[in-house]
Amino acid sequence: MKINTRLLGETDSDIEIAAEIIRKGDLVAFPTETVYGLGANALDEEAVKKVYIAKGRPSDNPMIVHIYKKEQLYELAENVTQDMLKLANCFWPGPLTMVVRAKSIIPKVTTGGLDTVAVRLPLHTTARALIEKAGVPIAAPSANLSGKPSPTEARDVIEDMDGKIHGIITGAGCNIGIESTVIDMTGKIPLILRPGYITLKDIAETLGKEVLLDKHLTIKPDISHREGLNEFTYEEKPKSPGMKYRHYAPNAEMIIYEGDKEKVLETITAEKIRRMEQGQKVEVILFNAVSPKEAARLFFAKLRECDRKGVDVILATAVQDEGIGFAVMNRMIKSAGYNVISVK
Ligand code: TXA
Ligand code: MG
Repeated sequence: MKINTRLLGETDSDIEIAAEIIRKGDLVAFPTETVYGLGANALDEEAVKKVYIAKGRPSDNPMIVHIYKKEQLYELAENVTQDMLKLANCFWPGPLTMVVRAKSIIPKVTTGGLDTVAVRLPLHTTARALIEKAGVPIAAPSANLSGKPSPTEARDVIEDMDGKIHGIITGAGCNIGIESTVIDMTGKIPLILRPGYITLKDIAETLGKEVLLDKHLTIKPDISHREGLNEFTYEEKPKSPGMKYRHYAPNAEMIIYEGDKEKVLETITAEKIRRMEQGQKVEVILFNAVSPKEAARLFFAKLRECDRKGVDVILATAVQDEGIGFAVMNRMIKSAGYNVISVK
């Protein structure tokens, strides 16, 4: 059934309309400082089910629950520790998501059947105003169709969600451009499940203790059956269910080149010519020329632009694998379906 999707602005009265849609159990997309989110009342099972349907998302992949003030963590988390408070005080509002033991008021559909819940307090004022006005925590994955690049502009959301949800708040300000850092706070040692703008080093310094990266972030899954692939297989089940799915994929084939800067450029130029001679439409992404922050801000928008232009192949330089650059590379590698060439 096609839904009439209302395009809303960031005025108080439009945010009130959006909040009403959420309270009624329907869906609204809204901007955050990372990417656009697709929001539903996190405590309403039927509303959350609609999110999985609108995105075409596998139902074992849990939602991030968004709040507008720190105190709401106590409503959602079974046990709020000193470390959680330290991180909340240092990084909230902002692009950090904490995985904590879930209270029973959170339906299992929201947590993908897990006994933990991911909680985030965004910085974007529209996002916070919406959560506050709705009067309920808002479950929101990125507002893209499952598998597609995350949306950083209103038109990306309109492309993927028009006719599927009741409202889209068209705003500005997804300045970070990649999704929040996800940190699992349920074990002895905090574990980064998804890298982001807030880095392992930032978190370790704040907590004054060791923080580890989930090992699935550094090992390569089995991609022997890559053709038409939308699920990766790992020997051991990843803690973050989202890890195993194909993500952020543009329509084009994508290749990442790493190695000596000059040689990478030579290789890309040669490949570009070869492909163009075959009649292909080629796009080159040279992220070694910009800062990692800038690469983060531009990356998903660039993939969406390639899709709009009908590009056949994207040839990209690797980003330095450190700090925010590590988070960008994490997205780039997945977008490319692990198609990375080391230039010698
Ligand atoms: O920046 C963001 O985090 C954006 C904006 C909209 O806030 N949201 C976002 O949501 O990226 P999503 O659903 O696209 O990604 C959430 C990630 C998934 O990889 C999911 O598997 C993981 O967080 N996750 C959610 N709940 C979890 C839990 N209880 N345990 C482990 N991982 C969890
Ligand atoms: Mg997502």
